[in-house]
Amino acid sequence: MSDSQVALVTGGTSGIGRETVRGLAARGWTVLVHGRDAERGHEICRTVRRETAGAATFHHADLSTLDAVGALADAIADDYDRLDALVNNAGTWQDERRLVAATGERSDGTRAQVALTVAVNHCAHYRLTHDLWPLLNAAGGRVVAVSSDLHRRGELDTDRFLGPDGPTGQQAYADSKLANVAFTRALARRTDAVTVSCCHPGIVPSSRLARETGGLSRLGWKLFGLVGGLLPVGPVDSERAAAETSLFLATTDDTADLHGGYFSDCERTDAKPIEEATEEQCWAWTADVVGVDPEWPPVESGSDT
Ligand SMILES: NC(=O)c1ccc[n+]([C@@H]2O[C@H](COP(=O)([O-])OP(=O)(O)OC[C@H]3O[C@@H](n4cnc5c(N)ncnc54)[C@H](OP(=O)(O)O)[C@@H]3O)[C@@H](O)[C@H]2O)c1
Repeated sequence: MSDSQVALVTGGTSGIGRETVRGLAARGWTVLVHGRDAERGHEICRTVRRETAGAATFHHADLSTLDAVGALADAIADDYDRLDALVNNAGTWQDERRLVAATGERSDGTRAQVALTVAVNHCAHYRLTHDLWPLLNAAGGRVVAVSSDLHRRGELDTDRFLGPDGPTGQQAYADSKLANVAFTRALARRTDAVTVSCCHPGIVPSSRLARETGGLSRLGWKLFGLVGGLLPVGPVDSERAAAETSLFLATTDDTADLHGGYFSDCERTDAKPIEEATEEQCWAWTADVVGVDPEWPPVESGSDT
């Protein structure tokens, strides 16, 4: 239990997520640092305890396994009764078409084989937000989805999220980031109890997003990192600068314009237009794939809607 505000940052062991952890802890928050790499996870927690007024604990989960997502939410619910911010930041970029099985049976009795990029970047965060909803609701908290401006190149065709023949690399990544935007807007339509927003963090050349692929993307990111690191100014951001928009969305006192919005450089801006029906289809599809009732969040008591 904690007297300070509590946040969970997924992918808090690296890059933009790690800087988001630092920024929240510097504001005195208790930060639950999620990731897979326990060594880096414990190191960031030690740094936070040494350098800030905040607190941090490491929480391991591989988000490609929905059982692990459920276990992560259960562990947090065992220790905390509220969550002031959930920053859905973890992300991956895969050149190969790798599939993972979603948990549970779908309504048609099958088990979904989902593209890993979509499973981690979108489905796991949908399920995590669902499972942590009672804690978020208790705090009147925030959900921040870390998307990307590459969502503009995405398509929200859920058929191609499944099976071996769908897109890879940048296209699969862009599709998953568009799903982050659709999720934000669909969730915001369903509730005012929790403030929901999404963002483009910025371009960070040192990103390790493509770490699991041996392909051209990894080489491309490496070269971009080398060149980007030499630029005194330009279209690139430091990890710290890229964390600013997530930090703003999680902590600003002025929440009037946040709900359902897409932000870049801490400013609300237009995301790619998506038909509401398409967003709703994606919501229902994702609920089915991750094995939850699509009728969530529950209507708050005292609400007319
Ligand atoms: N970098 C950019 O230029 C850029 C631009 C636009 C948007 N973004 C978005 O910003 C977010 C952070 O990106 P970043 O550049 O900081 O990436 P990063 O340095 O590669 O960090 C990614 C984080 O996600 C975690 N992660 C990846 N796959 C996972 C899995 N299967 N299960 C659990 N955790 C997993 C990693 O955990 P471990 O290291 O512990 O495995 C790591 O903490 C991503 O959502 C990305 O799409 C980045």
